Amino acid sequence: MSNLVYLNGDWVADENAKVSVFDRGFLFADGVYEVVPVYQRRPFLLNLHIQRLQRSAEAIGIESIAAEFWYQLVSDLIHRNNLDDCLVYIQLTFGADSQRSHLPTQPLTPTIYASVSPLQVHWNTPTPVKVAVLEDIRWHRCDIKSISLLGNIMLKREAAKKGALEPLLHRNGRITEGASCNYFLVKQGALYTPPADHLILAGITRTWVIQLARQLGIEVFEVVCDVNQLQHADEVFLTSSSREVQPVGQIDDIIVGNGQCGVITAQIAEAFHASKRHLIQE
Ligand code: PDD
Repeated sequence: MSNLVYLNGDWVADENAKVSVFDRGFLFADGVYEVVPVYQRRPFLLNLHIQRLQRSAEAIGIESIAAEFWYQLVSDLIHRNNLDDCLVYIQLTFGADSQRSHLPTQPLTPTIYASVSPLQVHWNTPTPVKVAVLEDIRWHRCDIKSISLLGNIMLKREAAKKGALEPLLHRNGRITEGASCNYFLVKQGALYTPPADHLILAGITRTWVIQLARQLGIEVFEVVCDVNQLQHADEVFLTSSSREVQPVGQIDDIIVGNGQCGVITAQIAEAFHASKRHLIQE
């Protein structure tokens, strides 16, 4: 069954949504995006997602669009599609020109596209997954949630070939993040995750997990860890809007802890589920 998508002011069935071949998103990946989880029709941490969308748009020079527009759009998407649990996808590109030109030849109107996909919400701690450590071949502005995901996708494919769900990326031995998630390691009861600089996307789930951990009295250090520290961690987990808190049981050939979900990871995952429950019951 098709979903209704929003495209430049119109609501259309997804299979009928069309953009110009001169759209700078299509030709140059000149655009940014957001993914927002929705539980029982309530968007989770929407204000943080909208703030990040505005930061990403500003970073690439797209004129600002009021936060109220995005709030209304997300609400309309959920209600028009009649989906309780879903992921909202928002994409904003620089717009369509009249020819392919590296720099726009005229002032352009941004292309705004938004859609939903069904979400299987987790309430239990998920089964640990395998990750593969790979060199981070991406650009140096990973803080921008750019639709240019070629590097991320090439790395995902390489990880999949090694039987891993996700690559964990390193620059000169220093771990940055996954191809579509952030990572945390646990050592002696404390959490370690890299600082939100230009080399990672400052995940909304990451921000929320840091807050939850501190509320639980767990210390969090925003510092870079290297491959050796990762391999000797007591626990490792990934975070993203779609994965939430995902334990890692294996890093290449190395089993993390006993390969099961660790105690701290389970505690954080439970606190995360509790915050979703709280949102739904509000
Ligand atoms: N990915 N790092 C990267 C490179 C990501 O693509 C994502 C999210 C994250 C986690 O961010 P957040 O917690 O805000 O979802 C970190 C989304 C879900 C995606 O591309 O579908």
